[in-house]
Amino acid sequence: MRGLTCIAVGTLLAGSLLPEALTQAPVEAPPAFSPGTMTLVTNGLVDQATFDADRAVFEEQEGRAEGLGPVYNAQSCAECHQNPVTGGISQVTELRAGHFDGINFIDHVGGSLINDRAINPAFQERVLGGNEVRTFRTSLNTLGDGFVEAIDSNTLVAISNGQPFGMRGQFIQVPVNEANNAVRGGRFGWKNQHASLKSFSADAYLNEMGITSPLQPNDNTSNGTVVDDGIPDPENLGDVDLFAEFMRATGVPPRDLVLAATADAQAGSVLFSQVGCTTCHVRNITTAPAGTVINQGALTVSAALGNKVIHPFGDFLLHDVGTGDGIVQNGGQSTRNKVRTAPLWGMRSRGRLMHDGETVNRNESILRHAGEATSVINNYRSLSTGQKNQLILFLNSL
Ligand code: HEC
Ligand code: HEC
Repeated sequence: MRGLTCIAVGTLLAGSLLPEALTQAPVEAPPAFSPGTMTLVTNGLVDQATFDADRAVFEEQEGRAEGLGPVYNAQSCAECHQNPVTGGISQVTELRAGHFDGINFIDHVGGSLINDRAINPAFQERVLGGNEVRTFRTSLNTLGDGFVEAIDSNTLVAISNGQPFGMRGQFIQVPVNEANNAVRGGRFGWKNQHASLKSFSADAYLNEMGITSPLQPNDNTSNGTVVDDGIPDPENLGDVDLFAEFMRATGVPPRDLVLAATADAQAGSVLFSQVGCTTCHVRNITTAPAGTVINQGALTVSAALGNKVIHPFGDFLLHDVGTGDGIVQNGGQSTRNKVRTAPLWGMRSRGRLMHDGETVNRNESILRHAGEATSVINNYRSLSTGQKNQLILFLNSL
């Protein structure tokens, strides 16, 4: 490695006009919190006081006066993103539904997301007849997502190209709402339905809380019927930018370093690579250099986020591992039965596993993989019980 770095530096010095960031070895992304204090600390994108203020907005409970509804799922981002700290995951699931006509998936009227709450019982959404495709989706971790946003799309394409035939993840391009819907490599959500944290925030504000914003100006319907909550949503509060800024300024989910240092967890880590889990659950990804313009011109990678190594244990690509939920979002019909590789960082905070949260045991979640993962799962099956336990111990250190 050292030799390679020297060659690179030498080459760049000869060019002499290339950005300094390119000449520096990438460094580890900082942890979101220290398990000793459980206090969230900024990754340096903004100062701690700004970060704390952004976190408070992410935690803020909204009511009708703030535009909540007409249909919604919860009153604050943190209600569903909180374990073990604000921005983390939770057991909260959401319901999606629609119809498969034998060729195409068709959204439930009003969209595949069925909101579980309404400000008036007359507006309550329910799954209507004829929508036989249904799934639950668990909430996701958002800690460290600024680094994920800072991954160059070409890096994701390269990961896919490096995967063996039959396990090659699908890369999709999705609209960046704040860049006039110009497309970028999707990476957020179970279906990679977004590429930008600002787009995701506006989407979540509307679809989880019923609150509009300049990027999502129209309130949701109830089962397709326009209902008026009687109160116009306030003008842009800037909240969408603050949610995005909070998530962008978080560090990555910290590992359990004590457990990770045990001989069993280390053996489990080696087995995790040996059996082939890392084909999809990718260990190391480096973010784009500071100064790189991303999100189709809407964002420049900052020094705090650029040229950092992260260990997401995911590839941010879509795979058919036999668990597909039949729903199509931004990726077109070919993604109907695919799911994004679950990033395993922070998974020790997760009790209900897989997109639907219906697997509650690590071993069973591994055995539930089929389809593209079949050969790797067969390798796992042929491990001894002791080795399987080591591998699972390793997962528990993430
Ligand atoms: C009712 C629960 C709920 C609320 C409230 C909620 N979310 Fe989520 N969030 C989810 C679920 C469920 C997913 C997974 C969605 C999917 O892909 O199906 C998710 C996914 C995300 C992701 C993608 C993370 C990743 O790494 O892929 C981001 C970002 C996010 N939410 C931000 C927000 C923000 C910002 C708010 C507040 C405006 C918010 N969420 C409110 C449940 C919620
Ligand atoms: C072909 C790609 C692929 C391979 C190989 C693969 N996985 Fe996965 N993994 C996925 C996908 C996709 C999901 C999400 C599936 C879902 O939610 O329906 C997932 C989910 C998981 C989860 C659930 C995590 C959570 O937070 O819900 C665990 C645990 C896991 N994988 C472990 C492993 C282990 C251990 C191996 C190796 C024995 C492995 N995987 C091999 C693609 C893969």
